[in-house]
Amino acid sequence: MTAPALADPTDFTRGNGSDSASFRACFGSFATGVLIVTCKPPGEVGVAITINSLSSVSLNPALALFCLEERSATLASFLRAGHFAMNILCRDQAALSNHYAQHHEVRDTDFLPAWQSGAPILKGALAVADCTLHDVYGGGDHRILMGQVLETGVRKGDPLLYYRGGYGSICDATS
Ligand SMILES: Cc1cc2nc3c(=O)[nH]c(=O)nc-3n(C[C@H](O)[C@H](O)[C@H](O)COP(=O)(O)O)c2cc1C
Repeated sequence: MTAPALADPTDFTRGNGSDSASFRACFGSFATGVLIVTCKPPGEVGVAITINSLSSVSLNPALALFCLEERSATLASFLRAGHFAMNILCRDQAALSNHYAQHHEVRDTDFLPAWQSGAPILKGALAVADCTLHDVYGGGDHRILMGQVLETGVRKGDPLLYYRGGYGSICDATS
């Protein structure tokens, strides 16, 4: 199989930094994994939302963050819970990614019993970081939720990737 021809190295489609379509086109070019972040405030149902704005931040202390739209109905639940689990998706979990981008109440059949923090743990995730909520920062129309990692888990498998508005896998990239 031959690789696609590379584009002209001088040919950029340029956009104004404040134009949201250009912003998305630029940062959507940064291929990421996908995760479902979960929490369960005391006495309430579990909440889950699809995210790709994960960054590991610090080893000592162990900190990792994600960015959540300020107007998301899930934000208040994360603040009430004071914890979250970052469930990093396997390549066969695109349907779950689409589901929890739209519906935020956890389906019990998708999840395992909680670990230390109390957040729902996704069955079949590639990796999990179970966190307490350490800090919350402002970030324009998003909030930055920083977690202290209590426990991690990893399984064998390949990640689900997200790139320019679509899903892929490492197998696609290397074939
Ligand atoms: C692959 C993917 C990645 C996403 N990443 C983020 C993200 O990092 N932060 C965010 O706030 N929303 C992200 N979203 C959108 C949310 O999942 C959700 O659709 C949006 O916040 C609207 O949800 P609401 O019902 O809470 O308003 C992502 C969606 C998809 C499909």
